[in-house]
Amino acid sequence: TVTHTGLIGLGTMGAALALNIAEKGFPIAVWNRTAAVTRAFHAGAGELAARITPTDTLEALVQAITPPRAIILMVPAGQAVDDQMAALAPLLGPDDLVIDAGNANFRDTNRRDGADLPFRFMGIGVSGGEEGARHGPAIMAGGPDAAWAQMKPLLQAIAARAEDGTPCADHMGPSGAGHFVKAVHNGIEYADMQMISEVYGVMRDGMALPAADIAPVFDRWNAGPLQSYLIEISAQVAAAADPIGGGPILDMIVDAAGQKGTGRWTAVEAQHLAAPVPVIEAAVMARNVSARRDERAAGQARFGAAKAKITLPLDDLEQAMIAGKILCYAQGFAMMTAAAKEFGWALDMPAIARVWRAGCIIRSSMLNDMAQALAEDPARNLILAPFFAGLLDKGLPALRRVVANGALQALPLPALSAGLAWFDLMRQARGTANMIQGQRDFFGAHGFDRLDGKDAHHGPWGSPA
Ligand code: 6PG
Repeated sequence: TVTHTGLIGLGTMGAALALNIAEKGFPIAVWNRTAAVTRAFHAGAGELAARITPTDTLEALVQAITPPRAIILMVPAGQAVDDQMAALAPLLGPDDLVIDAGNANFRDTNRRDGADLPFRFMGIGVSGGEEGARHGPAIMAGGPDAAWAQMKPLLQAIAARAEDGTPCADHMGPSGAGHFVKAVHNGIEYADMQMISEVYGVMRDGMALPAADIAPVFDRWNAGPLQSYLIEISAQVAAAADPIGGGPILDMIVDAAGQKGTGRWTAVEAQHLAAPVPVIEAAVMARNVSARRDERAAGQARFGAAKAKITLPLDDLEQAMIAGKILCYAQGFAMMTAAAKEFGWALDMPAIARVWRAGCIIRSSMLNDMAQALAEDPARNLILAPFFAGLLDKGLPALRRVVANGALQALPLPALSAGLAWFDLMRQARGTANMIQGQRDFFGAHGFDRLDGKDAHHGPWGSPA
């Protein structure tokens, strides 16, 4: 057998990806910094071991691969990628291709791509956790057209498939475009998770529902418009028993969320792009607040615990979630439209929605409808697509009731309320920034436009203070 593909880094994700590649019929050579890990991986590969060549040195890895070589890096994002690329540099030539499949910051991918590399380079975002990597992730590729053409058969073979059979792997654009889209995916992932945790909080603290009664609610929602992997696993998380104490495991889990940073990057980049993504920002903020447990305890000691009583029907929570989800995705796609313009990428919005339909953490049935709405008009904000405008007509009254009740009962709903606030700005033709422009002109003589088009560009307040 001729091996054209190599993989470096046999951690959880790398090992799963290597097995997936071998299973789809592509012989692969693998290398890990610790040789024992490589050998154990090969020994545990079962029938697939025949298609896998374990190697003990980087040189041996390169020699085991027949040109044109493609070497996939599955090492921790950051310095490890630079180190690995530096180690490969003397061993590879201009026909060889190195693929960073980790969760790189897209600015790092751009930087690496812009450096004078002795080999070709591409960055791909891979989503779906270990299970996805093993049996079908969603793949967002960035790099030159020729590199994509070379890797497309393999990447589409190992990727998840949407219900209509389309592989969830596509070319997003050059250089960092793949990792950029993966970061937005993760920002939305944070937002979806946060909104679910907010309605969980309404049920737990506002309605005094035990975890055992919350699980079936998520299960029910998973059969409707909210059908998604994250709702599905939330039901399972709520239903699971603590193997030690026997009670709900959810009640035993510390309420401080970790993060590796990809969601935060999305919020940071959104600010650079002046793209409003308040639901994602709220989700990042809430994770940051969650980590400050002592401060929250002090806050509760001083101001008291919320004695919440929410009497809304559970249907309201479902409708609020539907509306919140649409608002969040509308922001995410608009951010990518802004990025495409800023970076000169031809990001294909319906193609992105299609790639996200299966394999990735944010997979959901709603992404089918989003792909369709974006195909009708990729530049139009999703909230204006007739299908989603209709869902919003239905969901917004419930979102208002949930957010208003949360505010009155001191139940924190940062992501849902941020979505609502953005929506109300977006439907206000005559906003309030005329006051801001007046103030700016008053203290800084910044000038303003007049509604009547006349060109008195300053107010009657005399010279600036
Ligand atoms: C995915 C996930 C994954 C991510 C973490 C979550 O798409 O498979 O987004 O790539 O690394 O599982 O990241 P945090 O640690 O930031 O929550």
